[in-house]
Amino acid sequence: DNTAVFGCSHGRPALTLIDNIRVSTELLQALDTFDAREDDVLLVSYPKSGTHWLAEIMKNLYSRHSDNHSAGLVTLTSSLEFGDLSKFDELRNLSSKRLIPTHLSYDMIPVQFKTKNCKMIYVIRNPKDTAVSMYHYYQQNPHLPNVEKWSSFLEIFLKGEVVYGSWIDHVLSWEKNKSNENMLFLYYESMKKDLPKHVKEISSFLNISVSEDQIREISKKCSFHEMKEQAEREKVNTNHTVCALTSDRKLIFRKGVVGDWRNYFTSKQNVQFDAVFKEKINSSALASYVEY
Ligand code: A3P
Repeated sequence: DNTAVFGCSHGRPALTLIDNIRVSTELLQALDTFDAREDDVLLVSYPKSGTHWLAEIMKNLYSRHSDNHSAGLVTLTSSLEFGDLSKFDELRNLSSKRLIPTHLSYDMIPVQFKTKNCKMIYVIRNPKDTAVSMYHYYQQNPHLPNVEKWSSFLEIFLKGEVVYGSWIDHVLSWEKNKSNENMLFLYYESMKKDLPKHVKEISSFLNISVSEDQIREISKKCSFHEMKEQAEREKVNTNHTVCALTSDRKLIFRKGVVGDWRNYFTSKQNVQFDAVFKEKINSSALASYVEY
């Protein structure tokens, strides 16, 4: 059994995580009683949807902020729910502003992020490319179960038996809340099409004033190729990653394109995938998103 299901806490649904992540009762309690700060920014995604991309954009935006944020943005070095209780000491000691990445579903995040109206940025990527990206990630990451064949991986992805569970449940939990004023919902594919437009959108959402030139400069710096090159230059320094599962940033920058799924899905797999997804997300605005 590659996965373990962890019990409910305070009425939360069970969370499926990979077997080597021990989610103790203490960690669940720590999440329940987590002290959010009003200026915390939450960066949320289903894994492999562009988390590192967003973190880099935000880091760059804050570092150009003209106000008195000399410390810029302090990024938690791994997802909120990952690791042991020392994570919470690390968080307490971070000076504001804290950028906190998480892959939790909406119902699982510490309640104070909601009651304190913290800003949340959710990035979504079409599920077929997400599956392909996750397949490669599984293959190269020693902490994840060994699933060699694409067809075997697709099977567990469709059943939601992968790290962080079902893509559908995850995105629907966030999609339902996407009109909240403290929430920005971003689409990977749209960012690929017009990054400057979205860098601008993110800067207004975060109340950061940047010039058109700075927007262009940040967009260039955060292109796939620039980020990949930078990761290769910095490969000895792994502390900046927001993903605790990998110690190698090169793992993150694989291809960075839209539609790579077409190189992996057979037509039969595509039909099967559409059937499962359409049935579950038919009534939501995301239904057409499966087509990407
Ligand atoms: P691929 O495996 O399809 O290449 P995450 O950061 O959530 O783990 O997501 C990783 C995915 O985002 C990888 O997808 C990676 O290449 C892609 N990615 C990372 N930086 C990117 C960028 N600047 N532009 C486009 N895609 C990027």
